[in-house]
Formats: sequence, structure tokens, C-alpha cells
Amino acid sequence: MSSQTEHAARMTSPQIMARKGGEPLVCLTAYDAPTAAILDAHCDILLVGDSVGMVVHGLPSTVGVTLEMMILHGQAVMRGSKRALVVVDLPFGSYEASAEQAYYTASRVLKETGCQAIKVESGPAIASTIAFLTQRGIPVMGHVGLRPQAVHVDGGFKAKGRTVQERTRVLFEAQSADEAGAFAIVVEGVAASLAAEITKSVSAPTIGIGASPACDGQILVTDDMLGRFDWTPKFVRRYADLRGEIDRAAAAYAADVKARRFPAASETYAFKKPRVDVVDEQG
Ligand code: KIV
Repeated sequence: MSSQTEHAARMTSPQIMARKGGEPLVCLTAYDAPTAAILDAHCDILLVGDSVGMVVHGLPSTVGVTLEMMILHGQAVMRGSKRALVVVDLPFGSYEASAEQAYYTASRVLKETGCQAIKVESGPAIASTIAFLTQRGIPVMGHVGLRPQAVHVDGGFKAKGRTVQERTRVLFEAQSADEAGAFAIVVEGVAASLAAEITKSVSAPTIGIGASPACDGQILVTDDMLGRFDWTPKFVRRYADLRGEIDRAAAAYAADVKARRFPAASETYAFKKPRVDVVDEQG
């Protein structure tokens, strides 16, 4: 069982809610323990996003992500972090059929990872599920606008809220998630003015991604902002060039191996000769 001090040290969902309209919430995705350990000091929320399927496992969308994958990555992020609130995404197919299915899945995620909250992509049918979960002790983060799990209905990853009809729908989805008790709402890939309108009209903090600086916080896929891919969406700001760094390091390593410059003598183990007197005594 984790100690009282561990619970005390971590951000809580009420603390996140209290930041509405205050200091912006800093959020990033994390999928493994060493990365979580680095991000922890800088983030209020670490999201174990189902983007792990695309970022780490090379899947074409998040639809193929399984509950077992989310639990495994959730456990790793919990081991690596001490301070941030850890939220784990419920993957496609693990919560949409009924509130009971969502409760079973979410309680398994909380028990098996030790995380504090879960996230669901909150289309129109999910508000009642958010209420069901929050009333039973499970903090829920909503997710409106571009919903990656709806990629097949949408026909691709497309920004939302650029027509009046879509604007009304996304606003309604955000308000429904808010009324249902979501402690925070991710607003992804929507017109900036809509993200600002949502932020004004809900009591939960909004976390923008491809949205607006008016949101109560921001999130990015960590691997995007670290520059691990050669293509990123227009809303991503790259703070590093890890792809270039890894490429340069791998090329230098390959050149050293081929030229027998690696390993150097200092990078090898010496053979320890057996002591002659010990050998004699035994003989
Ligand atoms: O899965 C994910 O990483 C997400 C973020 C993009 C918000 O849902």
C-alpha cells in the first residue's frame, strides 16, 4: 500500500479544479518511468494518453490500444513520478457500452496502476457515464473537440468547431461533461474562439491542445514537443530536436563500431588472474 506521504505529495483533482482561471496548468503525456521522472518536476498533470499506441507502438490510430497496454504504461509512469497528478486514458472499446462497463474498467485502472484519475473522450453519449463514475469516487477528465478515438466516424484527424453547427455541438459536449462532474476537460483541435468560449462557460479547468492560450492549461504529446517525429501538427511547438540527436548519436556509434574505435580499453573488463598461492594450497 502506498504511504500517506505519497498521497500528500501528489497533486489532487480538487487542487487541479482550484486552478480554474488561475496559474495555467502544465500538462504533458508520459508513457514510461524515466521520462515521467524528468517531467514530474515541471508538470501538474502527467497524462498516460492512449496516444501511446501511435507514439510508442507505431499504430495508425488510437483505436487499437488495449486496456492492458494502458495499465502497463500507467504503472511505469506512477513508478517514475512522485508529484504530478497521473491520469490514465480509458482506451477505445473499454467504456462506451455502458456506465457499468466504464466503472469496471476505470476501477481496474485505478487499482492496478495507483493513478488518481482517468480520462474519457466525452461525446454526447458519455456525460451520464462521467456522472456515474464521479458519484462513485472516480475523478474523470473529459475530452472534447477532436476526439482521436472517433477517427473512423470523422474520416481522419480534423479540427472541430469551424462551422456553427459543430461549434454548438462541441460547446454542448463540454458543458455536459462539466455538469456531469468532470474535474478538468481537454479541449483538442478546435477554433481558438470556441476554446475561449468553452473555457468561460464551464466551471472545470480546460486543458488546451491545438486550442487557445485562453484555456486554463495546456497539454502536448511529449514526443511531439521533443521533436521525435519529422512531422508534427501545426499547433505543436518543438522545444528540442531529439530525432536529430538520436540520429547523430546512432551514426557516430555505427562509425565507431565499424572503425573498431568502440569499445576502448577503458570500456572493457580486465581478466583477473587467479592468485598462485591459493591455487597451490588447493593443489
Ligand atoms: O492520448 C493523448 O495523448 C491525449 C492528449 C492528446 C490530450 O488524449
